[in-house]
Amino acid sequence: MDHSKLTIAFAFSAGMAMAEDRLPEGDPEYGAFLSTECMTCHQTSGESDGIPPIAGQSIQAFSAALRAYRSKERMHPVMNMIASRLTDTDIAALAAYYESPE
Ligand code: HEC
Repeated sequence: MDHSKLTIAFAFSAGMAMAEDRLPEGDPEYGAFLSTECMTCHQTSGESDGIPPIAGQSIQAFSAALRAYRSKERMHPVMNMIASRLTDTDIAALAAYYESPE
């Protein structure tokens, strides 16, 4: 039995598990592409018709809101439907874009 190989394999899988807890780094350009769907309701600045503005939020707050809609922890029919189609990569990209949209 080769103990050194076993140790390396264990260290590697522990590293992978930690990586899953981290937010993926978002690509703001992909976020800008995805945001066209959001823009029909969310204006770039200011509230309109009771829909909150989503630009300028921190990456953490923004992703937490979308994850909460996706898991239905936070209920809203429209946002639950929209968030259910977003992957973690999509959410990270949108968060990166909306943190400081051009
Ligand atoms: C059909 C209209 C509509 C579309 C399209 C839409 N939203 Fe929303 N969104 C809303 C409404 C209404 C709320 C407020 C819901 C509530 O009260 O919880 C909201 C809330 C949010 C919030 C929470 C804001 C806060 O300050 O609490 C975020 C984040 C958000 N939307 C992101 C998005 C993203 C990202 C997209 C595009 C992928 C998107 N929305 C598309 C209507 C929309």
